[in-house]
Amino acid sequence: MTRDEQRIAAAEAAAALVEDGMVVGLGTGSTAAHFIDTLIRRVRDEGLRITAIPTSKRSDRQARDGGIRMTNFAAERAIDLTVDGADQILLGRLDLVKGLGGALLREKIVAAASKRLVIIADGSKLVDRLGGLVPIPVEVVEFGWESTAARIEKLGGTPVRRWPENSDQPFRTDGGNYILDCTFGELPDPSGLEQALSYTIGVVESGLFIGMADTALVGTDEGVKRFDKAG
Ligand code: 5RP
Repeated sequence: MTRDEQRIAAAEAAAALVEDGMVVGLGTGSTAAHFIDTLIRRVRDEGLRITAIPTSKRSDRQARDGGIRMTNFAAERAIDLTVDGADQILLGRLDLVKGLGGALLREKIVAAASKRLVIIADGSKLVDRLGGLVPIPVEVVEFGWESTAARIEKLGGTPVRRWPENSDQPFRTDGGNYILDCTFGELPDPSGLEQALSYTIGVVESGLFIGMADTALVGTDEGVKRFDKAG
């Protein structure tokens, strides 16, 4: 199975959890896009009735174009189920690194408002230590970003402002902020780092999602494996 086939299998398993009448949080990224495609098919072919809240302009457009009815936080206080991808999933605790797709702030707001967060991924995303070569994306405001980056260096990170290839402009999130991709090496204490980053002036949000995911559905050559949060 290719990685993409594993992602599609995980996305289809997650779409099977969606029931009539649910408010569904829509993640962002290539795996979440497969989930949205599967939901679109269920709405079209089975008459599934749901409303959805997207975590990015991209996912919003994809879902609307496919005929999914969208809602927002003015109408809904709670989301029944959110399905999203991740860049790393810590075995056992299901702590996550997210945000390589740049949508981490909205993803965290939607995750925090969800009764259940299901993460979908291919098998390469499961790790027994977060970090390592994968940077932690940190969304920062534009003003004074250099001094914010210096504060992150004091926490032990090496921040690099995200800059798309062949662009003359740095990457900006849907909220208009910058992302600093911060390499910390392997994280002995992801929760401590998440707290330290949240206290750092200039930081809007970090891509460390601690204790938020309930379930991970991971595509592997042996089929989709389900992991539930330990404890
Ligand atoms: C976007 C994210 C994505 O969920 C994460 O980057 C995984 O993306 P993909 O499914 O394309 O590997 O956090 O901000």
